[in-house]
Amino acid sequence: MLYTRLGGAGKVFFSNTLFDTTRANIEYSGATGIDLPIPENADTQSYHPFKGNLDVDKLKAGIAEWGADQVAAVVLTVTNNSGGGQPVSLANARAVADICKQNGIMFLLDACRVAENAWFVRHREPGNEQKSYRDIAQEMFALSDGAIMSAKKDGLVNMGGFLALRDLELAQACRTVLIITEGYSTYGGLSGRDMEAIATGLEEVFEPDYSIIGSAVPRTWVKS
Ligand SMILES: Cc1ncc(COP(=O)(O)O)c(C=O)c1O
Repeated sequence: MLYTRLGGAGKVFFSNTLFDTTRANIEYSGATGIDLPIPENADTQSYHPFKGNLDVDKLKAGIAEWGADQVAAVVLTVTNNSGGGQPVSLANARAVADICKQNGIMFLLDACRVAENAWFVRHREPGNEQKSYRDIAQEMFALSDGAIMSAKKDGLVNMGGFLALRDLELAQACRTVLIITEGYSTYGGLSGRDMEAIATGLEEVFEPDYSIIGSAVPRTWVKS
């Protein structure tokens, strides 16, 4: 729905790494998807606390090359699943959001593992130790113009997901596309029960008790 509305021939989407089905939807619209992970992402043997980050210098260069008007959106995937499932720092999300704001470009989160990403921010990014996982995720969402989420991950459900947008006009336009693919948003797609399951999953996933990684991960994974 979203990429049908935002994409099309001549448009480009930049990302740390687009998930393959996200890329497929972008390319099907006629647009181009360009991955701009930091160089450390390609080195599987080196340590970097946030190997999922987007390379902000390359983003600036890409915007200059294509022209801001042609950039449909920047999609920050947290965690960077197709880039090794690596986390993204809050500082990186802030830097990307700033660049988008300066250039009038939409900034989207592909947020399917945003709770796990928050765990890494709290334990690896100085200054975030006292924040809850929920606060960290909310800080990241607050930077964005919208988010897509496959809730099969940090929504803790068997099926479903959502698209959330600040731009109500764009949201309405996406709902219209939904009519063609699934039906009206009031009855097409997910059943009410499944939506309730997502709502509950999104509450529970930020509970410190849920965070098995908080207790079970070997300390060597957490660089002090
Ligand atoms: C980052 C990311 N985005 C999107 C998707 C697509 O999710 P779905 O299969 O629910 O459409 C996935 C699935 O693994 C993903 O990891």
